[in-house]
Amino acid sequence: MSYGMIATWRMACDGITKGTTDLANGGSAQTAIVAAIKMVEDYPFYKSVGYGGLPNEEGLVELDAAFMNGDNFDIGAVAGSRSVKNPIAVAEKLSHERFNSFLVGDGVAKYAIKEGFEIQNMLTERAKKTWENRLAEMRNSNLSPYDGHDTVGMVALDQNGSMACGTSSSGLFMKKEGRIGDSPLSGSGFYVDSEIGGATATGLGEDLMKGCLSYETVRLMGTGLQPQEAVNQAMQDFAKQLERRKGKCGAFSLVAMNNKGEWGVATNVEFSFAVATDQLAPTIYLAYPSEDGSYPKIEVASQEWLDAYQARITAPIQ
Ligand code: GLY
Repeated sequence: MSYGMIATWRMACDGITKGTTDLANGGSAQTAIVAAIKMVEDYPFYKSVGYGGLPNEEGLVELDAAFMNGDNFDIGAVAGSRSVKNPIAVAEKLSHERFNSFLVGDGVAKYAIKEGFEIQNMLTERAKKTWENRLAEMRNSNLSPYDGHDTVGMVALDQNGSMACGTSSSGLFMKKEGRIGDSPLSGSGFYVDSEIGGATATGLGEDLMKGCLSYETVRLMGTGLQPQEAVNQAMQDFAKQLERRKGKCGAFSLVAMNNKGEWGVATNVEFSFAVATDQLAPTIYLAYPSEDGSYPKIEVASQEWLDAYQARITAPIQ
């Protein structure tokens, strides 16, 4: 039986490497998603997820995360979480609750403490320095403060045919206190149905949530489209609508996998993503948007690109 994981951004690769090793040994999609996203949340140099995530305009880290079980549609989500070490683990726990399965703000910490989850200060010195630098840049120029919202989103398929997905994000850099993006919103940031497939998104949450693009991708796969056709159609159709009706469309990138382990990606910006299946060793790809709305150009990330990425994310912040 096939198994696999697909995820947004290069940062997901170590997680899906571990996750697919577990899947190869018979592990569940649900467990693989939580373990893989925890790895991203715990790495302090990823500045858009978990510990080390960039703060809001008040200097407070507020994190969003969600988990969905594709077998029974159970969903758990947290938003504006300030002190939970692993928001994805709390989201997964919440997915088992019949009521109160989406918590925000202080309610997340209260629930997490009661359930025995680890609490910690999520603001690193590095993230604080980046925030201070951005404040200074904004004072000295007309720079838009809103830049950077690289959500990690993952879809997994296990050997029993079960699927799951999850997201985790610090959201838009310099967001308003209490702002919530698409990542914890079912249908927008994520969706999965084990009888069809799953999809997850990264990009400007305010625009992604207008089109419910993760749900739309899964719906299209359910009509018989291949993941690549489905995700491209969902994204391109909606991006055109937004451009026609509002004159602009934010950055959108989506990844999708069906319940056979086939996958696809759509994007309107340069975008990295990671895939591993029973047929494919963990691989980091770069996707480039097409001019004409056809499929993106996809290439394996070169060693030079990977080295430059690692140097960039770990470079000292002045
Ligand atoms: N896509 C993440 C956010 O907008 O918060």
